[in-house]
Parts: sequence; structure tokens; C-alpha cells
Amino acid sequence: MTLLQKVERIKIKRIKECADKFLGQEVNIKGWVRTVRKQKVLAFIEINDGSSLSGIQVVLDSAVPDYDELMEVITTGASLSVTGEVKESPGKNQAVEIHASKIELIGVCDPERYPLQKKRHSFEFLRTIAHLRPRTNTLGAVTRVRNALAFATHLFFQERSFYHIHTPIITASDCEGAGQLFHVSTTDENKKDHFFSRPTYLTVSGQLNGEIYACALSDIYTFGPTFRAENSNTSRHLSEFWMIEPEMAFADLSDNVNLAEAYIRYVVKYALDHCQEDLQLFDRFVSKGLLEMLALVAETEYERITYTEAVDLLKKSKKEFEFPVEWGKDLQAEHERYLTEEYFKKPVTVVDYPKEIKAFYMRANDDGKTVAAMDFLVPRVGELVGGSQREERLDAIEERLVAAGLDKEQYWWYLDLRRYGSVPHSGFGVGFERLVQFVTGMDNIRDVIPFPRYPGHADF
Ligand code: 4AD
Ligand code: MG
Repeated sequence: MTLLQKVERIKIKRIKECADKFLGQEVNIKGWVRTVRKQKVLAFIEINDGSSLSGIQVVLDSAVPDYDELMEVITTGASLSVTGEVKESPGKNQAVEIHASKIELIGVCDPERYPLQKKRHSFEFLRTIAHLRPRTNTLGAVTRVRNALAFATHLFFQERSFYHIHTPIITASDCEGAGQLFHVSTTDENKKDHFFSRPTYLTVSGQLNGEIYACALSDIYTFGPTFRAENSNTSRHLSEFWMIEPEMAFADLSDNVNLAEAYIRYVVKYALDHCQEDLQLFDRFVSKGLLEMLALVAETEYERITYTEAVDLLKKSKKEFEFPVEWGKDLQAEHERYLTEEYFKKPVTVVDYPKEIKAFYMRANDDGKTVAAMDFLVPRVGELVGGSQREERLDAIEERLVAAGLDKEQYWWYLDLRRYGSVPHSGFGVGFERLVQFVTGMDNIRDVIPFPRYPGHADF
């Protein structure tokens, strides 16, 4: 029996992180060509495998037998397998490089037709080639930061003994009661085939299912896709986005705000510790001052104010807002951004909103006018987190359901939670793409999710 002798593929990131260990070793890497520089006796090929922002320089000696043939096909975008020795690099841009002993072409790439040219492309253009954009520096960096934030999310909750619950994507209830539902049907939606013997929708939030599990396992979180058919063509709205929703039993609004603050601080710190190279790219080319802002968010105390105080501050600001500020009206993005960006210059949580503008499940405060709601606002993004203490009193929640025009019968299971061992409980939802936007400084939410869905667009 012959054993296949093969040098194991190593990720470029690992070679660079453990340069000392790899010096003088033969390695194999596989990746895509970013640039080629041909000189008289040597060629320099920059290869990237996506494992980190910067690739690695491969040096190819023109003395290798098939040098001319290789040079024909080693073009930007081509995929290669490179075997060679890791050596210290005399160049100032990198510590190590690979001196190739063997290069194999895996896939050709016609340089004339390849849409990713060396120049900078606009994000609008890159959206039209969503199948190739992850190969660009910025979208690659977004993808790695997004991954780090998702991992940090699980670390944060798991370290605190929250259980991860998978809540359904198809639901029969409109959690937010805002009527922004996508219908789920096997046929033309007008025919009402009712596969599930009732109208069903894509979920807008996993909260109601999360409450069920919190009222059994104490602390849980969900992390899944949510869908909203709102016709908002803004840089902060998607029709399909991911939400992280913790839910805690035996917890009131201030426990909830504490958790949201600790969570944001934790994931921002995690990104600073694990994504420095990528964050530096954003700081230089996408959002100047980003690193400084993130360092501040990782360290400082955040603000907390009531909705009533927020309205007073906005009125006193003497700023010309597009939407008038008035007690009882919801805060608009421009108001939120004034508070967090201009007034406090740091994250701020606004609590106790008028009950008329918030969802039916939020706990009524003793003043009879407000509910125990919280919105966590951050510079540049505005509302990053929305949550509340839930109404745990049976009579009060029944009243709210009726007032919201919802069918009490349909929510029998939700009411049962209030009948059998009801407990104060609280939770919130973090818009994951808004978090990625916040940490990367990317302008448009459509560029922080691999395949964005928004009105008129569900391509790829
Ligand atoms: O404030 P929202 O609507 O709250 C809820 O859905 C609650 N049920 C959450 C809970 O208490 N468990 O949404 C939560 C967050 C917002 O703060 C925002 O960050 C994000 O989700 N979000 C969106 N992100 C992208 N596109 C949209 N269309 C979004 N709508 C909300
Ligand atoms: Mg909200």
C-alpha cells in the first residue's frame, strides 16, 4: 500500500501568527492571487486565503523549469497551491515570505474579465457582485469581525450560564404587533391554503418563544434570523436580519439594562482584542476615529435616562429636527443620534417610554402612562438594542392585549405563563447587523450581511 504523501495546507494567518515556529519549514498554502510583480530573476506573488486581511508574499525564482508558463496563468484572481520554505523577508511590509519550490495552478482567472480590478470599487458596485465581494479587503474584514462578534456573543452568554434556544422561524403571532409580516404559504397567498391550518408568518422576533423557555430554564438566549416587511430604505434597515435575544427570569428592567451594557462592552472588547488588523483597516479607510471610539465604549460608564428626560433634553437642544419632539411621540433616528452622538457622546439607555408607542408585552409602570421599556443607543447607529421588562401580571397583560386589538384566545399559552408560577422577567433584542455596523464603522447595513435582503432586492 502506498500512502499519499502530502504536505498539509496551512492557513496564512497561522504562518504569520507563529512566524518563529515556521521559519525554515516547508509549508503548503492555497489561496487566490491578489497581485503579481514580475522582475528579471524573481516574481513576487501576493496570495490571500481570507484567513486574515493581509496575505503572504510568495517569491518565485525564474530558474524554476516552467517559469514562463506559470507567469502566463498567475494573474489576479487565479487560485494557486504553493509549496515552499518560510523565510525571513527583507521587505519592510512583512516579517516572513514563502520561497516557492512548487506552484500549481488550481483555477485560472481571466484578468480581462475579472470584475475585481486593483482600483477601489464602490460598495454599491460590490453589492451587484455579492458572489465576489468577500474577496475584497473590506468585505473580507467585515466577515471576520462579524464572525468574531457572533463567537463573542456565545462566549458572553455561555459564561453566564444562559442556554441557547432555537426558536422557530415560522410563527403564527406578530410579536411586535407592528404588522410588518411576511406571509408563509405553499401557494399564492390569496388562496389561503393554510398548510398549518392557520395563517403563518416569518418571525419578527423570537421573544415570545424565548419567554416560554426563560420561565423554565431561568436564563436563555436566541440568535437567529428575523424578518420585517417594513418598507424602510435606510442604511440601518434590512428585511432579513439576525437578532440576539436574551431573556431572564426573576429580572427587572435595571437587571436588563445591566446585562445589555455588559454585553456591548464585552463584545466590543473582544473585537478589539481579536480583530486588530481588520479594525485598523476600518479606522484608516472607512471611519476615522473608530478605534478611539471603540476603546471608549470598552471602558467608560454609559448613561441612563428616562424617555421624559430625553424629550426635555431634545426640546432644550434648540436643534431643528425634521420630526417634532413631543411627549408621547416615538423618538426618531435623528433624536436618538443627537442624544448619543452630540449630547452624551457615548452609549445611552433610554427607559420608561409612553405605553401607546410600545408593544403590548411591556410591563406597565405605576404612573399609568409609561412602560418598562429600554432602548440602548450608540453613536452613528442610533438604536442598537430594544427591550423591556415583560408584563407578568395576568389581568394587566390581558388588558394590554385587548387594548392592542389582539385576540386573547390566540395568546392562551402566553397567558398561561402568567397563570402558572408567573415571575418578573426581562429581555432585549440586539440587531446583530447594527452591532457589526457599529464595530466596523461601515456606513450601510447592506454591506455587513453577506446577502442583504431589502425592498426590491433578494438577489444571490
Ligand atoms: O426593537 P425591536 O423591534 O425589539 C424586538 O423585536 C423585541 N422583541 C426584542 C426583545 O425584547 N427580545 O428590535 C430589536 C433590535 C433593534 O434595536 C434593532 O437593533 C434591530 O433589532 N432591528 C433591525 N435591524 C435591522 N433591520 C431592521 N429592519 C431592524 N428592526 C429592528
Ligand atoms: Mg425597537
